[in-house]
Amino acid sequence: QGLKDIFKDSYHIGVALNRWQVTSDDPKAKSVIENNFNSLSPENGLKWERVHPDPDRFNFEFGDEYVALGEKMRAFTIGHCLVWHQQVPDWVFEDEVGDLVGKDVLYSRMENHIQTVAGRYKGKINGWDVVNEAFNEDGSFRESKWFQIAGKDFIKEAFRNAQKADPDAELYYNDYNVWRASKRKGILDFAKEMKAEGIKIDAIGMQGHYQLESPTLEEIEQGIIDIHEAGFKVMITELDVDVLPRPRRAEGADLNMNFANSDEYNPYKEGITPEAEAKLAQRYEDIFAIYEKHKDKITRVTFWGLSDRNSWLNNFPVRGRTNYPLPFDRNLDPKKEVFEKL
Ligand code: XIL
Repeated sequence: QGLKDIFKDSYHIGVALNRWQVTSDDPKAKSVIENNFNSLSPENGLKWERVHPDPDRFNFEFGDEYVALGEKMRAFTIGHCLVWHQQVPDWVFEDEVGDLVGKDVLYSRMENHIQTVAGRYKGKINGWDVVNEAFNEDGSFRESKWFQIAGKDFIKEAFRNAQKADPDAELYYNDYNVWRASKRKGILDFAKEMKAEGIKIDAIGMQGHYQLESPTLEEIEQGIIDIHEAGFKVMITELDVDVLPRPRRAEGADLNMNFANSDEYNPYKEGITPEAEAKLAQRYEDIFAIYEKHKDKITRVTFWGLSDRNSWLNNFPVRGRTNYPLPFDRNLDPKKEVFEKL
């Protein structure tokens, strides 16, 4: 039984894909994707720097193949992401001499980007992460260049543009640590304000980049309940579980070192221990028990990557580690311990 069958009465089960997986002829990769997932997300390929690297140049090679795969699979196909402070070229914010542009120029660039990208995939992409990661942990607005130039209004402007570009697509605000009460309050207050002004916003995406011990199950659950009570659908948009210890600069770790040979911070180079594997399986069982309890509120759960081999967590927050965050191992085989508990 694939993941999508296990949860077929609950929510869509998604996976984030990069180019090689979208275009791969590898029969194993293809069958794992098709048998387990009924929703797709683009891991990097539709981010601004990839799809719109220069003012007059768009690159739709990935996007076209990606939506074709989505159509072939009849998957619920996600666009990620229209407005973010990362993976966006500097030219978006700058004039010819490198000074920050004014709000009007920024808005016309934003409009051109959203109309061109979301407009191209109108009717083919079912839901867009319109704005990604615009809030700080304390619930205030992140001091991104978007915010510096346009203030908090840039978020509303992005949603207005997205709705115009594809009136039928669902529109999402997406962020990490939405389980944190202070951050969630900032997000939900603003989302409610938008809604009251008639701006379309359908769901709040909780990324779900978890560790083994944090956040607590209570924190995850409260997040789901609060989003629902505020009047939005809940989506878990980027689920994975980091099983490695997190080096922290504050605790003296040198984050620039090569962690490939670190026994302290990369303990499972030769393979994960049975104890750690059991913890991972337990964590997934616990998390999905919460999701199932609230399946009336959650419409999608998406894993951030196909297998441990492809996970961004091998290189985040530091490079050169061997991580084990996903239900499929480096050979694209399902982890028995995890699947037994789902
Ligand atoms: C990550 C990708 O997985 C990496 O490959 C890339 O180098 C950086 O971005 N939050 C998001 C995602 O919204 O877009 C990020 O994806 C992970 C954190």
